[in-house]
Amino acid sequence: MAIESHKIHEALNWRYAVKRFDPSKKIPSVDWQTLIETLRLTPSSYGMEPWRFVVIENPELRAELRAASWNQSQVTDSSHFVVFLAKDNVSETDIDQYLQRVANARGTTVESLAGFKSMLMKNLVKAMTPEQAFQWSQRQVYIALGFLLKTAALLKIDSTPMEGLDPLRYDQVLGLEGSGWRTVLAVALGYRHPDDAYQKHKKVRFTADEIIQYK
Ligand SMILES: Cc1cc2nc3c(=O)[nH]c(=O)nc-3n(C[C@H](O)[C@H](O)[C@H](O)COP(=O)(O)O)c2cc1C
Repeated sequence: MAIESHKIHEALNWRYAVKRFDPSKKIPSVDWQTLIETLRLTPSSYGMEPWRFVVIENPELRAELRAASWNQSQVTDSSHFVVFLAKDNVSETDIDQYLQRVANARGTTVESLAGFKSMLMKNLVKAMTPEQAFQWSQRQVYIALGFLLKTAALLKIDSTPMEGLDPLRYDQVLGLEGSGWRTVLAVALGYRHPDDAYQKHKKVRFTADEIIQYK
């Protein structure tokens, strides 16, 4: 059965970007598995999945990252804190590995995917500088962000999408330099503190008429 529309509306109005988490509340493992599955099933351009998600459990690392995030308390006080990474280049090896996975999953051969390979090589390797490839990867990462925020809301789990951080410092703290992966953003997940005033703020959004056009 499809989820009822009013439940989606309710969840999307209930969610807000939490400023203060209740540090005593932890996401149950069954819900955490659903959140992970949401990240895993996020679609990406060509299916390349140019992302990694780093769950920061170590409190010392969290404290270091908080210092690199305008001292925002969500970094240390949320139940789960996830850093989203994007790939900073796409190589022929990446494409070959991907095609091998497609062949394995779908019971076909890599040879039968030769046409797909030349398209991927043309569009992702030859046509893009490393910086353009990173921009492309980042766009894919934002799809995962959207998926995660919405699933969390449906599960009544609070979240904060966070771009208010220094990605280069994150890369240093996480030892990513030269790894082919770069920090894009982070998401804090958990439960709102009852005293977080932001939960009472009215949503500021355009009306549908202002942003949706029918032609
Ligand atoms: C990509 C992105 C990055 C954001 N970065 C931060 C952040 O670093 N810290 C924060 O408190 N809120 C952050 N926000 C929250 C936005 O300010 C908030 O989503 C927006 O004002 C709409 O309000 P609402 O989410 O409460 O409905 C971010 C939101 C998005 C989508």
